[in-house]
Amino acid sequence: MPHHRHFAALLLLAQLLPAQPPAAPHFEFTANQRLAFPGNYREWIFLSAGRGMTYGPTADPHGPPQFDNVFVNPSAYRHFVKTGRWPEQAIFVLEIREAKSEGSINKGGEFQGAVTAIEVLVKDPKRFAATSGWGFFEFDKKQQPAAQLPKTATCYACHAQNGAVEHTFVQFYPTLLPIASAKNTLKSAAPGH
Ligand code: HEC
Repeated sequence: MPHHRHFAALLLLAQLLPAQPPAAPHFEFTANQRLAFPGNYREWIFLSAGRGMTYGPTADPHGPPQFDNVFVNPSAYRHFVKTGRWPEQAIFVLEIREAKSEGSINKGGEFQGAVTAIEVLVKDPKRFAATSGWGFFEFDKKQQPAAQLPKTATCYACHAQNGAVEHTFVQFYPTLLPIASAKNTLKSAAPGH
């Protein structure tokens, strides 16, 4: 194609494209369907922290209580604030950290130490059609891309049965619970609300 036509085509393309580039995806799957470690989750919305919660998945009744921190990607959070439900492509990270009590000037109470586990949940009805539209993942210390946990993993049943909104534990997220309550999206059978 002559150069001037090429240029005209580019100009036309520039006009058709939206002014704002689409938001970068907040997670990616590799060619072999593994979830790449969502390395920027600490820039997402913080939902809550739990301490020494005994439900699992890494709870150790004999070890010291751990902290857990829950994050969701920002656009899913905004959708939830409007609707009380999670959009497709919502992604949640449960970051588990050891508890420490003595350090620097602190002599009592507890603060958070090193990460001991990263657990992830993704809502994607097409990709995870075989598991009700939700996929669970666990990352190893090397943060290698992770395969979806099989549907026999305990995660699926516990979240489906006990999560207050869809597969998630909104009953433990104090800023989301009143929203779900007001929008009437809490599952009636869910405990804890
Ligand atoms: C016996 C019940 C139970 C099992 C089994 C379980 N979870 Fe959870 N999960 C919870 C509870 C309760 C919370 C709320 C955590 C908090 O408030 O700190 C939670 C929170 C989460 C979250 C944050 C988003 C949400 O759903 O609220 C992720 C991600 C998660 N779990 C992943 C996993 C993975 C991966 C597994 C399996 C390896 C798993 N969980 C197994 C009960 C369970």
